[in-house]
Amino acid sequence: MTQLPGLLDTEAIRKDFPILDRRIHDGKKLVYLDNAATSQTPRQVLDVLNEYYEQHNANVHRGVHVLAEEATALYEGARDKVAAFINAPSRDEVIFTKNASESLNLVANMLGWADEPYRVDHETEIVITEMEHHSNIVPWQLLSQRTGAKLKWFGLTDDGRLDLSNIEEIITEKTKIVSFVLVSNILGTLNPVEAIVRRAQEVGALVLIDASQAAPHMPLDVQALQADFVAFTGHKMCGPTGIGVLWGRQELLEDLPPFLGGGEMIETVSMNSSTYAPAPHKFEAGTPPVSQAVGLGAAVDYLTAIGMDKIAAHEHAITEYAVKRLLEVPDLRIIGPTTAEDRGAAISFTLGDIHPHDVGQVLDEEGIAVRVGHHCARPVCLRYGIPATTRASFYLYSTPGEIDALVDGLEHVRNFFG
Ligand code: ALA
Repeated sequence: MTQLPGLLDTEAIRKDFPILDRRIHDGKKLVYLDNAATSQTPRQVLDVLNEYYEQHNANVHRGVHVLAEEATALYEGARDKVAAFINAPSRDEVIFTKNASESLNLVANMLGWADEPYRVDHETEIVITEMEHHSNIVPWQLLSQRTGAKLKWFGLTDDGRLDLSNIEEIITEKTKIVSFVLVSNILGTLNPVEAIVRRAQEVGALVLIDASQAAPHMPLDVQALQADFVAFTGHKMCGPTGIGVLWGRQELLEDLPPFLGGGEMIETVSMNSSTYAPAPHKFEAGTPPVSQAVGLGAAVDYLTAIGMDKIAAHEHAITEYAVKRLLEVPDLRIIGPTTAEDRGAAISFTLGDIHPHDVGQVLDEEGIAVRVGHHCARPVCLRYGIPATTRASFYLYSTPGEIDALVDGLEHVRNFFG
């Protein structure tokens, strides 16, 4: 068995994930390499979810009965856990949403309805990058169409990194918001936050970081990032689906208007007007995703007990091994950085002229789960002149043996297609 320095005890960790024992396609061992799409869920989180529904389920912030108080304590306790996980200065800066897309859309809508000095209008500019997930492109296109603001973006270098050579022309005095991904879901690139934040701060622009592919994989410190907002999702970090997070600086959350109106986000309501509850509740209209937040809290406990720095080291070792092994496969082209430095654990590639959907299908028959397509980042495929990629993405339970299985599977694909 291949041993690499920095690996976690995957034999022990994999016992926590019942699904990883599955056999598929006539008894083939499941090799799950689609973690950038969603991660698997450990027993520790499944148990908490079960216990929540078996013992504590109620609506939150509303009741005076025992279950309502327990559910509220668990929901708000999850907020404390998430705040500690990202080193937020205050628990009130953590807003629960349904996913990262909703978190990103929330910021776009806050700014669209805001007063000066935050207001986005036809005299202002919005900056994103060409490597964004559609969830960090479309909300800004919608805002730009609604307000007349100009949408600008950083292009990409041939090796899959951001081209910041024209940073002073892209981020200008007119820029209101710079929104960019910390780790690309398609290229795997880890972006240089400091340079972008420094320039944004020079011109007084706000910064939103999409940390969906970072929060599960490395220590995340919102204070060190020096951004104004950070978005991520629960289901990619061992939590359930249906729960996302938006962290925002307290003074901004106090000043900015809500997007969704409804119960629990108000202070008082009359037929003519309403006043709003303080953040985070101002941004959490209606019954929130209670069990999902509790599940995310359990996932945070699980990851913290293992250690985010250890998880990052494990994934670095696995990614380095995967890059090396994949580059040995004839006709394989990695789309994105070809080193393990400054990258996350998602690797996209093409294999000769075999269509990625065919690659994915043959790999699936071998028991290997990867994602194929444009990965909701179609502009990246357009930039590199390819219709799609095959993407393998790793997590704390991934093993060198699974990388070997992927490489063997790709040999099989090449033989199959002659
Ligand atoms: N954003 C997820 C992915 O990259 C769904 O696969």
